This record gives sequence, C-alpha cells and structure tokens, in this order.
Amino acid sequence: MEDVLPYFNESKSYVETKLKEYMGSTEPLLKVLEESINYSLYSGGKRIRPLFALVVGDLFGVSRNKLASLACALEMIHTASLIMDDLPNMDDAKTRRGRPANHVIYGQDVATLASIGLLTRAYEIVLADNELPPDRKTRVVGKLANLVGTEGLVGGQFVDLKCSGPEMDSSTLEYIHHHKTAILFVASGSTAAIIGNASDEEIAAIEEYGRNLGFAFQILDDLLDSAGSTEKVGKPLHRDRGNFAMLYGRDKCRQLVQDHTNAAIKAIELFGGRNQKLIALGRMLLKRKS
Ligand code: IPE
Ligand code: IPE
Ligand code: MG
Ligand code: MG
Ligand code: MG
Repeated sequence: MEDVLPYFNESKSYVETKLKEYMGSTEPLLKVLEESINYSLYSGGKRIRPLFALVVGDLFGVSRNKLASLACALEMIHTASLIMDDLPNMDDAKTRRGRPANHVIYGQDVATLASIGLLTRAYEIVLADNELPPDRKTRVVGKLANLVGTEGLVGGQFVDLKCSGPEMDSSTLEYIHHHKTAILFVASGSTAAIIGNASDEEIAAIEEYGRNLGFAFQILDDLLDSAGSTEKVGKPLHRDRGNFAMLYGRDKCRQLVQDHTNAAIKAIELFGGRNQKLIALGRMLLKRKS
C-alpha cells in the first residue's frame, strides 16, 4: 500500500492554514470572545473530520480549494461540540487536550457563546464560499444542519446526558454513539462526496464507511476513557456515562472496534484501488492512543 502519511500530514497543514484565514471579527469589544474561540480551535486537535473530508474529495478528484470551507466548517462544528461538552452542566471536564478547558479560562458564559459562535460560523463560511455552486452549497449546509441538530449530534448529546448510566440497554448506548459521534463522520464524508458530484450509491457507501468508522472511534474513545493514560489522552478519565467499556468490558470493545473498522473498509470496496487512502485512515484510527 502507498505511504499515505505524508499526504495526511500535508492535508492537516492545509486545514491549519485555511482555518487561520477564517478568523472572525476584529471588533475590539469582541476580543475576549475571539480569543476564547481561537483557544479551542488551535489547541492540538487531531483534525480527523476535515482530513476524512479531504480524503473523500481526493477520491472524487475535487481540487483542494473547493473543499477548504467545508473542511474548516467541520472542525468548527467539532470544536464547538467539545467546548459545550466540557461545560460544568454537561460533562464537567476541567481539561481538554492537556490544557484547561475553555470555560475554565474564559468562564461558562463566554465558553457557551464561543461554542454557538463557532457553530454558526461553520455554516456561514460554506454559504459564503464562491468556489461552490449555489445548489451544492445548499445541499451541503442542509445535510450538515440536519446531522448536527436535534436528530443528530445534539440529540446524541441529549440522550447521553439524560438517559445513560449503568442500567441503560444496548440500543440506547448505540443511539448515543451513533448520534453524538458517528454522525459527524457521516456528515464529513457525505458532504465532501456531494461537492465531488458523487452518485447516490457512492454517497451511501461513504456514509456507511463514516458511520462504522465513527462508531469505532467512539468505542475507542470509551476504551481510552476507561484504560488510557491521562497524559496521552489529555482529558479527565473515567468520566463518560454512556461508555461501551462499562457495558461490555474491554475485550469485547476491542473486538467491536476491529469489527466496525472492517465493516467501514468493506463498505468502500466499490471504489476498487481508489480506496487506499480511506483504508489507511481506518487503520490509522484503529491504532490511536489519544
Ligand atoms: C473527541 O474527538 C470527541 C469524541 C467524539 C470522542 P477527537 O478525539 O477527534 O478530538 P480532538 O479534536 O482530536 O481533540
Ligand atoms: C463527545 O463524547 C461527543 C461530542 C463532543 C459530540 P465524549 O464526552 O465521550 O467526548 P470526550 O471524551 O469528552 O472527548
Ligand atoms: Mg460527553
Ligand atoms: Mg466529554
Ligand atoms: Mg469520551
């Protein structure tokens, strides 16, 4: 298999550069709000969701400049969700990526506004992107809003907060993992595929890949929460309520991560030899320690 690491690293650098081009307001009165946003946006995130979108774009031969706003929007949505997730009335986590959580530095009021501001900026930058045809932009933003909203990521976070615990059944836990995490992977892949003018069958395959990869990603996050090292993971451990490792034990979870990664790779067989980067991405995530 080709060595995709240079391509992955270069894609991440591209995202870092482009994110900086989408800086917000320079209004002096908003200085602290912008600082709070930047604090979380540039604090060592792995940039997995934009990377996935760029890999899918590559599969459909889309030039990079047509994917920049989408890639940055995905990272903004993800970052917004993390700022919110750490708040005292949510997971009450005081550290993130080895540093104090946003609200610890800026306060809950500013952190909440930073999260909503970032989320809104995500849609704004895609809609303002002149590289994308209007019909494609509408489809992309509609899909993102649908998968992030109450029936998507927000709903998953709600069920995690309100319905999870030691008594929960496996279908509730599956709902949580699919909605709070896997759905943003689905969104990342399918919106990039839409920009790439993919067929319905191709979009469905990318979504199936994203669903399985995202599901495996969250089970691994649970495993790291239950047995990882605080230094490497960079966030407080033993926090997650709806945790697969709690319900099934670690061995079964490791198997589930492998099974879902295999299912993700199977879903993209229809792309033949063009699927190498997606296979490499799946394998890379399987090995992560943070
Ligand atoms: C953390 O996501 C939240 C989950 C959905 C498990 P990542 O592990 O992608 O977070 P960063 O951005 O790399 O810190
Ligand atoms: C996070 O799930 C999912 C979202 C932020 C949408 P977790 O609560 O398990 O994520 P971490 O462990 O705090 O990163
Ligand atoms: Mg949480
Ligand atoms: Mg959390
Ligand atoms: Mg977690």
